[in-house]
Amino acid sequence: MSEHIDRRNFLARMWQAGGGLLAGVAAWTTWDVMRPLASTGFGGLVRSVKPDAVAGEAVIEVPAARSYLTDVNGEIVALSEKCTHLGCRVPFCESSGLFECPCHGSVFNRAGDYVAGPAPRGMDRYPVEVAEDGFVYIDTGDRIDGPAPGSAQVDSTPKGPSCAAEGEG
Ligand code: FES
Repeated sequence: MSEHIDRRNFLARMWQAGGGLLAGVAAWTTWDVMRPLASTGFGGLVRSVKPDAVAGEAVIEVPAARSYLTDVNGEIVALSEKCTHLGCRVPFCESSGLFECPCHGSVFNRAGDYVAGPAPRGMDRYPVEVAEDGFVYIDTGDRIDGPAPGSAQVDSTPKGPSCAAEGEG
Protein backbone atom coordinates (compact mmCIF):
# COMPACT_ATOMS: atom_id res chain seq x y z
CA MET A 1 0.00 0.00 0.00
CA SER A 2 2.69 2.53 1.00
CA GLU A 3 4.65 1.55 -2.09
CA HIS A 4 1.55 2.40 -4.15
CA ILE A 5 1.31 5.85 -2.49
CA ASP A 6 5.01 6.52 -3.00
CA ARG A 7 4.63 5.68 -6.64
CA ARG A 8 1.66 8.06 -6.89
CA ASN A 9 3.61 10.80 -5.17
CA PHE A 10 6.56 10.22 -7.44
CA LEU A 11 4.39 10.43 -10.56
CA ALA A 12 2.61 13.55 -9.27
CA ARG A 13 5.96 15.25 -8.62
CA MET A 14 7.19 14.27 -12.07
CA TRP A 15 4.08 15.82 -13.64
CA GLN A 16 4.60 19.00 -11.59
CA ALA A 17 8.24 19.19 -12.59
CA GLY A 18 7.32 18.67 -16.24
CA GLY A 19 4.64 21.35 -16.02
CA GLY A 20 7.07 23.76 -14.39
CA LEU A 21 9.63 23.09 -17.10
CA LEU A 22 7.04 23.69 -19.84
CA ALA A 23 5.92 26.94 -18.19
CA GLY A 24 9.54 28.11 -18.02
CA VAL A 25 10.15 27.32 -21.67
CA ALA A 26 6.91 29.06 -22.68
CA ALA A 27 7.83 32.18 -20.66
CA TRP A 28 11.32 32.31 -22.16
CA THR A 29 9.99 31.85 -25.70
CA THR A 30 7.34 34.55 -25.18
CA TRP A 31 9.95 37.01 -23.88
CA ASP A 32 12.27 36.20 -26.78
CA VAL A 33 9.49 36.96 -29.29
CA MET A 34 7.98 39.95 -27.47
CA ARG A 35 11.13 41.82 -26.46
CA PRO A 36 11.76 45.07 -28.33
CA LEU A 37 14.28 45.11 -31.15
CA ALA A 38 17.60 46.70 -30.28
CA SER A 39 17.85 50.23 -31.63
CA THR A 40 21.45 50.65 -32.77
CA GLY A 41 21.44 54.15 -34.31
CA PHE A 42 22.14 55.29 -37.85
CA GLY A 43 23.68 52.50 -39.91
CA GLY A 44 21.49 49.93 -38.15
CA LEU A 45 17.97 49.67 -36.77
CA VAL A 46 16.43 52.91 -35.53
CA ARG A 47 13.27 52.93 -33.42
CA SER A 48 10.98 55.75 -34.51
CA VAL A 49 7.27 56.32 -33.83
CA LYS A 50 4.09 54.30 -33.54
CA PRO A 51 2.37 53.62 -36.87
CA ASP A 52 -0.61 55.86 -35.93
CA ALA A 53 1.68 58.90 -36.16
CA VAL A 54 2.21 58.21 -39.86
CA ALA A 55 -1.37 58.77 -40.93
CA GLY A 56 -2.89 60.56 -43.89
CA GLU A 57 -0.42 62.85 -45.61
CA ALA A 58 1.82 63.32 -42.58
CA VAL A 59 5.56 63.43 -43.18
CA ILE A 60 7.44 62.58 -39.99
CA GLU A 61 11.12 63.46 -39.78
CA VAL A 62 13.23 60.90 -37.89
CA PRO A 63 16.59 62.63 -37.34
CA ALA A 64 18.25 59.56 -35.80
CA ALA A 65 17.53 57.65 -39.01
CA ARG A 66 18.26 60.65 -41.27
CA SER A 67 14.98 59.91 -42.94
CA TYR A 68 11.29 60.67 -43.17
CA LEU A 69 8.33 58.38 -42.63
CA THR A 70 5.25 58.76 -44.76
CA ASP A 71 2.21 56.74 -45.71
CA VAL A 72 2.13 55.71 -49.36
CA ASN A 73 -1.20 54.16 -50.26
CA GLY A 74 -1.56 52.49 -46.87
CA GLU A 75 2.07 51.40 -46.54
CA ILE A 76 4.60 53.11 -44.25
CA VAL A 77 7.68 54.10 -46.22
CA ALA A 78 11.01 55.44 -44.92
CA LEU A 79 12.70 57.92 -47.26
CA SER A 80 16.36 58.83 -46.96
CA GLU A 81 16.78 62.57 -46.46
CA LYS A 82 19.91 62.49 -48.67
CA CYS A 83 19.30 63.87 -52.16
CA THR A 84 20.01 61.33 -54.91
CA HIS A 85 21.76 64.06 -56.94
CA LEU A 86 24.78 65.09 -54.85
CA GLY A 87 23.70 64.20 -51.35
CA CYS A 88 22.33 67.42 -49.85
CA ARG A 89 19.74 67.05 -47.09
CA VAL A 90 16.29 67.44 -48.65
CA PRO A 91 13.69 69.17 -46.44
CA PHE A 92 9.94 68.69 -46.78
CA CYS A 93 8.14 71.87 -47.78
CA GLU A 94 4.78 72.03 -45.97
CA SER A 95 3.35 74.73 -48.27
CA SER A 96 3.95 72.81 -51.51
CA GLY A 97 3.63 69.33 -49.97
CA LEU A 98 6.81 68.31 -51.79
CA PHE A 99 10.42 67.59 -50.88
CA GLU A 100 12.55 70.40 -52.32
CA CYS A 101 16.33 70.15 -52.44
CA PRO A 102 17.90 73.55 -51.71
CA CYS A 103 21.15 72.77 -53.53
CA HIS A 104 20.21 72.38 -57.19
CA GLY A 105 16.41 72.34 -57.15
CA SER A 106 15.47 68.68 -57.35
CA VAL A 107 11.88 68.09 -56.30
CA PHE A 108 10.24 64.88 -55.06
CA ASN A 109 6.63 64.20 -54.14
CA ARG A 110 5.49 63.05 -50.69
CA ALA A 111 6.23 59.41 -51.62
CA GLY A 112 9.78 60.37 -52.62
CA ASP A 113 9.12 59.97 -56.34
CA TYR A 114 11.15 62.12 -58.71
CA VAL A 115 9.31 65.24 -59.89
CA ALA A 116 11.93 67.65 -61.26
CA GLY A 117 15.59 68.68 -61.25
CA PRO A 118 18.95 66.99 -61.81
CA ALA A 119 18.39 64.03 -59.40
CA PRO A 120 18.68 60.74 -61.33
CA ARG A 121 15.90 58.96 -59.40
CA GLY A 122 13.43 59.26 -56.57
CA MET A 123 14.50 59.42 -52.92
CA ASP A 124 16.17 56.28 -51.60
CA ARG A 125 14.28 54.14 -49.08
CA TYR A 126 14.96 51.99 -46.06
CA PRO A 127 13.04 48.87 -45.05
CA VAL A 128 10.65 49.36 -42.13
CA GLU A 129 9.19 46.93 -39.67
CA VAL A 130 6.57 47.33 -36.95
CA ALA A 131 8.02 45.37 -34.04
CA GLU A 132 6.22 43.66 -31.18
CA ASP A 133 6.73 46.75 -29.00
CA GLY A 134 4.43 48.64 -31.40
CA PHE A 135 7.07 50.98 -32.83
CA VAL A 136 8.22 51.39 -36.43
CA TYR A 137 11.87 50.38 -36.84
CA ILE A 138 13.85 51.74 -39.78
CA ASP A 139 16.70 49.59 -41.08
CA THR A 140 19.20 52.27 -42.09
CA GLY A 141 21.81 49.63 -42.86
CA ASP A 142 19.93 48.51 -45.95
CA ARG A 143 19.41 51.46 -48.34
CA ILE A 144 17.29 50.77 -51.41
CA ASP A 145 17.64 52.92 -54.54
CA GLY A 146 14.67 55.20 -55.19
CA PRO A 147 12.38 54.57 -58.14
CA ALA A 148 13.25 55.72 -61.64
CA PRO A 149 11.67 58.98 -62.84
CA GLY A 150 8.15 58.55 -64.19
CA SER A 151 6.85 56.21 -61.49
CA ALA A 152 4.81 58.58 -59.28
CA GLN A 153 2.80 56.73 -56.62
CA VAL A 154 0.99 59.80 -55.27
CA ASP A 155 -0.10 63.13 -56.72
CA SER A 156 2.89 65.35 -57.53
CA THR A 157 0.90 68.56 -57.95
CA PRO A 158 2.12 71.31 -55.57
CA LYS A 159 -0.48 72.18 -52.88
CA GLY A 160 0.80 75.76 -52.74
CA PRO A 161 3.92 77.89 -53.12
CA SER A 162 7.28 76.18 -53.04
CA CYS A 163 9.62 76.95 -50.15
CA ALA A 164 12.42 77.77 -52.63
CA ALA A 165 10.19 80.39 -54.30
CA GLU A 166 9.26 81.86 -50.89
CA GLY A 167 12.94 82.06 -50.00
CA GLU A 168 13.66 84.01 -53.18
CA GLY A 169 10.89 86.54 -52.49
S1 FES B 1 22.04 67.78 -54.27
FE1 FES B 1 19.90 67.91 -54.45
S2 FES B 1 19.60 68.72 -56.41
FE2 FES B 1 21.72 68.58 -56.24
